[in-house]
Parts: sequence; C-alpha cells; structure tokens
Amino acid sequence: MSIDTSIFGPASPGAEAILRLFGTLTLFSALIFAIVLGVTLYSVIRFRAKPGQGEPRQVFGHTRLEILWTVAPTALILVIGVLSFNTLRVVDPARDGQPPELILTGHQWWWEVRYPQAGFVTANEIHIPVGQPVWIQLESADVIHDFWVPKLGRKMDAVPGRSNYLRLEADAPGVYVGACAEFCGMQHAWMRLRVIAQTPGEYAAWQQAQAAIPPPPTETVALQGAKRFQELTCVNCHAIRGTGAQANAGPDLTHIASRQTLGAGVLDNTTANLTKWLTNPQAVKPGNQMPHFSLSSTDLSALVAYLETLR
Ligand code: CUA
Repeated sequence: MSIDTSIFGPASPGAEAILRLFGTLTLFSALIFAIVLGVTLYSVIRFRAKPGQGEPRQVFGHTRLEILWTVAPTALILVIGVLSFNTLRVVDPARDGQPPELILTGHQWWWEVRYPQAGFVTANEIHIPVGQPVWIQLESADVIHDFWVPKLGRKMDAVPGRSNYLRLEADAPGVYVGACAEFCGMQHAWMRLRVIAQTPGEYAAWQQAQAAIPPPPTETVALQGAKRFQELTCVNCHAIRGTGAQANAGPDLTHIASRQTLGAGVLDNTTANLTKWLTNPQAVKPGNQMPHFSLSSTDLSALVAYLETLR
C-alpha cells in the first residue's frame, strides 16, 4: 500500500502551522541570499581593479552602515521570534491537566498503544476520531525513540523514565503513516506506525470492538492453534485477553487480525505474511526480539489459523 507521507500536504492545524512557518522562513532566507549575492556581484564588478590603478581608498568605520547591519538583523530575528511563538502556541498547546486518551510506549522496535479509559492495548496503529484533538502520553520502555507522523505535525521524543505529552489531531479521515525518528538500534527503520483517523461513529465502533474479548475459535485447526499458543513459548511474551496469555514483553495480540500490518509495518497483515513472520521472524526483521522458534508445519498452520480469528 502506498501512502503519502509528504509534509507538504499537512492534515492537522499543527502541521499546517509548521508548514506556514517553514514557507515564511524559506522566503526570508531566499531574500537574504538574493540580497547578499546581488551586493557581492555588484561590488566585484563595479569595484574591480583596473589596469594602472593603485591601492583603492580604505574605509575604516561607517556609522550608518553599522547601525543598519545591527538593526536590520535584530528586527528580522524579532519577527521570526514572534512567528515562531505563534506557531508554538498551535503546535504545543497547554494540556491543563486533561487526561491522555492513550499511552504510547516505544519499544525496540514497535509501538505499544494503550487506551486506559477504554481498557485495551494494541500495537503500531493509533485510531483517533477525526477533527477532535487527542492527548497522547509518550513513554519509552528501553531507549530514546521519537514519534513522528509528518502529515500530523511535530515530532516528540519518547524518553525512558519520563512522560511527554503530545496533542494529536487529524482534519480528514484517513491513514497517516509515521515512523520512529530517533535512531534506536538495528531495526529503527522498521519502527513504523499508523494513525487511522475515523469518523466519531467509526471510532466508537472500533473502540467497542477492541475492548471486547474475542470469541474462542470454533474451527478445529484454529482450536488447535489456541491450545498450542498456550503450550509453546508464545505466552511468555504476548497477551491475548480472555486467555491465560498475559505477558507484555511483545505486542498484545488480542485483536491482531484487525490490524493492517505486522512487525511494526514491515509486512502487510495477510495470511501469507503472517505465515512468513511465524516461520522465521528473524529473516523478516533481523535483530527483533522475537526468536526463530523453528515451528513444525502443523503448529505453524494451527497458530496462523488461530491468530486470524482474533479480529
Ligand atoms: Cu525507535 Cu528509532
């Protein structure tokens, strides 16, 4: 799936403000560049040495010029300062003690997405209601990561031992792709995330579905998969609500089949790709925390069948 990540199509008030400031500063820089280049070229041509000419007149100190080149940059910096503060007000508003809608925790190399009020956990995909600002509490479980969804605005670091707060908002429904923007180890490049902005009705339905406990599988192979999930090492790292699996070293899998990607964006979530991932996660995303278990083909198809029921 190709998704536009360009910063030149902002989709939130914050991203629009940042792009506007960027445009203004680029224009200022271009003007200064043109003026400096123009004056330099003029001087080089107008005052070049001519044959037979001696040493030119030397000028020491020029009060009016010195006032000009002190006042002009100071005024420009003040203007830039005012524009920057105005942008900051939009991009980084005061939270005023509002509780975060979701807690986002960076892990090597995936994102844990916790909705404390709704009472569920998912991974690598954030759903938000369109047009409504949502507060995110940003955490890290290990090293410094950085949240960045270019079309939705600013970046923010996820720092171990510290909570940062970010206001996320999207103007239009859609899928907005983001990535970790702070080098955090081997699979930093595959620490992607998606923000899925939905209409309030769709968002409420999604929350309800995620909060529900998935019904146990009915089909034989999937039932076998559910059993093997608990017997194999899967339960040591993953949680599936409504079962004995309660660990949280790896992503919560309660509704894994409802997600768009696997391995924090490295694969689209399809049956073939899930099989590929479980066959050898280290071949798909080398260095990630999920070991290569060399599952038997019976276990493999049973686990895939089971996980695919977790909608
Ligand atoms: Cu996490 Cu780069």
